[in-house]
Amino acid sequence: MTDLYPKRLLGKVVVVTGAARGQGAAEAEALTREGARVIATDVTEAPGCRRLDVTSEQDWASLAAELKEAYGQVHGLVNNAGITWRARLGDVRPDDFDRVHAVNVTGPLLGIQHLAPLMPPGASIVNVGSSAALTAHYPVAYTASKWGLRGLSQTAALELGPSGIRVNTIHPGYIETEMTASAAPAFREANIRETPLGRTGTVDEVAPLIVFLLSDESSFITGAEIAVDGGLTAHGGVKSVSDALRPETA
Ligand code: NAI
Repeated sequence: MTDLYPKRLLGKVVVVTGAARGQGAAEAEALTREGARVIATDVTEAPGCRRLDVTSEQDWASLAAELKEAYGQVHGLVNNAGITWRARLGDVRPDDFDRVHAVNVTGPLLGIQHLAPLMPPGASIVNVGSSAALTAHYPVAYTASKWGLRGLSQTAALELGPSGIRVNTIHPGYIETEMTASAAPAFREANIRETPLGRTGTVDEVAPLIVFLLSDESSFITGAEIAVDGGLTAHGGVKSVSDALRPETA
């Protein structure tokens, strides 16, 4: 049976980091469904995943050499791997602050440095930020790292634009994964209260945006930041005011 619709990523070689589970696994699946040759990578062992620690220059250099040999070109990179650390401002230790920065910012930097040289015009990089990158989210190491990732993304969009390589950032809100499952129930409830759509999101509500940003349908979009957060970051912190003044509560 022939497909009803043409696959949107046919022939594209795409690397996804942190693809063993959660959003990365869903992204790898969605990209594969659209015809991409996906190299799913993760620091942990998982079926179908190649081992790559995003903080290791050596790992990135080996991957780049292998991809050059096997395909000659890389058309996409999804810098999805990330870790959180929930210490607050007064308690966070410098080594934890640095560790989070290494995975969430230095990792994407190394990925871009090693794979961009293999990217032809039309290639696309997506960095996975967070609603924490747009707000004063309390886990300071995570928040600072994701704000840092925004800076890296914007500089990369500027630097790689002349080579025809696009760089965009997505900012998920509360998405149900193992990362959020490890937070206190009050964190989930408070997020839902702040979210205009009144619920959390799923990995399958993030993956389609990644597919779009890697496809040629987004060929004139670079340096963009797109929230996938049910409206969490769009109201500038005034939802509680609006809720407090609803007729039924005023
Ligand atoms: P997750 O914790 O379920 O998955 C993260 C994956 O990254 C894991 O498979 C882990 O092994 C991998 N990883 C961790 N350190 C790594 C390293 N050094 N090298 C390679 N891989 C490594 O988390 P989730 O929710 O799927 O997160 C994906 C991305 O989305 C992260 O960047 C996270 O910060 C971001 N995000 C998640 C949100 C959520 O609500 N779940 C909200 C906003 C952003």
